[in-house]
Amino acid sequence: PVVTIAVDGPSGSGKSSVSRAVATRLGLAYLDTGAMYRAATLWCVRSGVALDDAGAVATAVVAMPLEMGVDPAAPTVCLDGDDVAEAIRTTEVSSVVSQVATNLDVRAELRRRQRAVIEAEATGGFSGGRGVVAEGRDITTVVAPDADARVLLTASEEARLRRRSLEVHGAADADAVEATKDQVLRRDRDDATVSQFLVAADGVATVDSSDLDLDQTVEAVLAVVAH
Ligand code: CDP
Repeated sequence: PVVTIAVDGPSGSGKSSVSRAVATRLGLAYLDTGAMYRAATLWCVRSGVALDDAGAVATAVVAMPLEMGVDPAAPTVCLDGDDVAEAIRTTEVSSVVSQVATNLDVRAELRRRQRAVIEAEATGGFSGGRGVVAEGRDITTVVAPDADARVLLTASEEARLRRRSLEVHGAADADAVEATKDQVLRRDRDDATVSQFLVAADGVATVDSSDLDLDQTVEAVLAVVAH
């Protein structure tokens, strides 16, 4: 049977690592929708589009030549033939991505592409018709509200900052956490206008990963899927 799993969560909740591991365990494809918003942002920056020009941003994103690789062992992000997996994670992109993600025409376009990937995986694609784990901010509520399993991954602010600090600075001492804090909290605020992701919608299971390591969180999500 085809399986679609939707995972939402804020920055530092661990949703990317957890979703990839769940996809690997179940033999499913993996779709990182945040990477698509990041790629859209990089595309606008590279094309010289002013991010405060909503119409120009929307036009650029509709024409964006983006290919998402959905192998959970090696997900790729290919923009106009260019591997941008690293370029989309820079501070330059992180600090302005919310501006592009709050553009409603951008959201409509990317949601359409995300649903197309989910549909392709239901009948063939990387998974051979087994299905996909899709993660982001609005997957459980808007992109795939009919998913077989829907999970909101949460974590305390302290845990989220510690994880993000490890990712970005390779350390989680007080200085590194402090350096991460402003950025993460500001993006939370900027994102809040587009996502209801801090509250689980009806039928969405909440998994709090604050005190769980990666394996334990994966098991908790698999338990939701098996339920
Ligand atoms: O790095 P982090 O895990 O915090 O975020 P991400 O999953 O890479 O997503 C980057 C940004 O894309 C978020 O801050 C949101 O602005 C936007 N996003 C969104 O609006 N909707 C989604 N489904 C996924 C991401």
